[in-house]
Amino acid sequence: MQYPTLLVDVKDGIAFLTLNRPDKRNALNAEARKDLMACLNAMRDDGAVRVVVVTGGGKAFAAGADIDEMAARSLWEQRQFITPPHIYDAVSKYPKPVIAAINGFALGAGCELAMACDYRLAAAGAKLGQPEINLGIIPGGGGTQRLPRLVGTGRAARLLFTGELIDAETAERWGLVDEVVAPEGLLGRAEELARKMAEKSPLALKLAKEALRAAEELPLRESLAREIDLFSMAFASEDKREGIAAFKENRKPVWTGR
Ligand code: COA
Repeated sequence: MQYPTLLVDVKDGIAFLTLNRPDKRNALNAEARKDLMACLNAMRDDGAVRVVVVTGGGKAFAAGADIDEMAARSLWEQRQFITPPHIYDAVSKYPKPVIAAINGFALGAGCELAMACDYRLAAAGAKLGQPEINLGIIPGGGGTQRLPRLVGTGRAARLLFTGELIDAETAERWGLVDEVVAPEGLLGRAEELARKMAEKSPLALKLAKEALRAAEELPLRESLAREIDLFSMAFASEDKREGIAAFKENRKPVWTGR
C-alpha cells in the first residue's frame, strides 16, 4: 500500500501510519484525508492488521486543516468537505483500536483527529489546541463536541475561545491526553500497548470498541442496553468458545475473529 501523504508500516499485527507532509507540519489537506481514509478502508478486513497507530512525521502530529485550501473554499465547498464520511468517523468507528501517538503539534484538525482515536499517547513537549478562533472560524471536525466531553466545558471554552495551546502534561492532567512519555519512547510505548491489544480476539475488540462509542454517544439507559446486545453477540462467537476452552486447558487461545 503506497500513499503520497502517508507512510504505512505493518508489523506483527500493528499498522503504523505516519502522516507524511512534514514540511507542512502534516496539515490535513484533501489529499492527506483521502489517503488516510483509503488506507484505513484497505486494512479494514485485513486480518494482518489488528491495531492501528497514527503518528506524524517530523515536528508535528498534524498542525490542523490546510489553511491554504480553506482560504480558497466557498461555504458550500467547505460544508461538502467536512460532511461525513470523514477521517474523524473513519477513526472513531473503525472496527479496530486506533492509538494516536502525538509526537508534536496536534492543532485544530490534528487535535480533532487525535480525539477521534481510542487512546492518546503524547510525547513530552507536544502541544495541543484548537486555534481556529485565531483565523476567525471554529472547529468543524468534532472539536467543539469531543473536547468538552474529554476535558469539561470550562477548559474546552478556554481552548476554543483563546486559541491557547497546552503542553502534553497539562493535556494529560485535563484528560485530553491519556499518557505522556519521553519523545524517544513514544513509538515504543505505542507498540507495547498495541501489541497487548493485538493479542486479543479481533471480534471482542470490535465489540468492546462499539460499546465504548455507545458510552460516548447514547444516554445511559440506551448504552447499557447496547452493551447487553454486544455482550450477547460475543456469545455467538467461536472466539468466546476458544477463549474459555483455552482458559480451562491452561493454554494460549488461538483467535479466528469469528
Ligand atoms: N495549513 C497549511 N500550512 C501549514 C499549516 C496549516 N494548518 N501549518 C503549518 N503550515 C505550513 C506553513 O505555512 C509553513 O509553510 P511554508 O514553509 O511553505 O511557509 C510550514 O508549514 C512550516 O510552518 P511554520 O509555521 O514555519 O513551522 P513552525 O514549526 O515554526 O510552527 C506551527 C508550527 C504548527 C505552530 C505553525 O505552523 C502554526 O501555527 N500552524 C497553523 C496552526 C493552525 O492554526 N491550525 C488550525 C488550522 S484550522
